[in-house]
Amino acid sequence: MAQPLILGIESSCDETAAAVIRGRTLLSDEIVSSASVQAKFGGVVPEIASRIHSDAVDEVVLRALGRANVKKEELDAVAVTYGAGLLGALLVGLSFAKGLAYGLDIPLIGVNHIRGHLAASYLEDETLAPPFVTLLASGGHTAILYAKTKTDFEVLGGTLDDAAGEAFDKVARVLGLPYPGGPHVERLAREGRAVVPMPKMLKGLGGYDFSYSGLKTHIINYVHTKEQGEAWSKADVAASFQSAALDILAEKTVEGALERHVGTVTAGGGVVANGYLREKLQTVCREAGLKLVLPAKKHCTDNAAMIAAEGLIRYEAGDFAPLSLNACASIPLR
Ligand SMILES: Nc1ncnc2c1ncn2[C@@H]1O[C@H](COP(=O)(O)OP(=O)(O)OP(=O)(O)O)[C@@H](O)[C@H]1O
Ligand SMILES: [Mg+2]
Repeated sequence: MAQPLILGIESSCDETAAAVIRGRTLLSDEIVSSASVQAKFGGVVPEIASRIHSDAVDEVVLRALGRANVKKEELDAVAVTYGAGLLGALLVGLSFAKGLAYGLDIPLIGVNHIRGHLAASYLEDETLAPPFVTLLASGGHTAILYAKTKTDFEVLGGTLDDAAGEAFDKVARVLGLPYPGGPHVERLAREGRAVVPMPKMLKGLGGYDFSYSGLKTHIINYVHTKEQGEAWSKADVAASFQSAALDILAEKTVEGALERHVGTVTAGGGVVANGYLREKLQTVCREAGLKLVLPAKKHCTDNAAMIAAEGLIRYEAGDFAPLSLNACASIPLR
């Protein structure tokens, strides 16, 4: 049977993106980001995001079809993020996808954005198959998951408070770095050394759970104290925070894989674009004899390729959405 041709559309936050896949092969991957516009405000302004999505969505979809050398009439399905995210932003992509699916008389597939982050690894390695353990580390979620099948997973544990990306964004703000903070903290950390003592509580909770609030408070207090006069290095703080925040994720993910007796680890979400985390995961997986599949960096932060990849899983399961599908601001992880 011919591999299905699926268009993915993502508009949950500040990226308007469209991608086309044929089976698990990525044919095109287009994105317009309003992050630089939003940076002026120190975060995403929902109304601005929605307006930029409205201006960009048709052009981004046309570009994705053009680059893939595919006519819209050839598509087998349209997959679109219906949640979680900013309602106004989601509605732009969802309405566009509905119009396209209706006009072409092909299935509409509603994709949970987080499932999209998890599915990004399937594009990276066409042989990847469950079971495996996945590290999800994004702006709004951080958890270690046991993927039993392509559609069924168990949450082994996760953050008790902030998500890893959120912690990076908050620490960036304390260090005077722009939004979104993660890439800026990573860049600065390369110039520093992880010599500033960080609280050990992160590992103290046992199981697979962890907390970022103590680490964040420690850094805020450290910076405020030092600002009273003593010399200090922003780069050293960035490097110390980065290793304290990320080592634990890599270590607990490997623990999960060994406990569940799986041979493969994957990861997804914006924080997985972090070079330090990628290297750490490579090291701990190699030491434990585990295979590691990491999505390309551009498929860790929000993108439409991952939405198309999860769309394929839903397509194969015959899990199609009615045209009455609504956008959801939040969807539980499970
Ligand atoms: N190189 C990096 N190092 C650390 N963090 C990063 C890096 N690149 C991006 N991030 C962080 O990743 C987050 C964005 O990831 P993503 O786009 O997946 O989140 P989101 O879509 O806002 O949230 P969610 O996917 O949970 O709904 C931001 O918090 C950002 O700071
Ligand atoms: Mg995301």
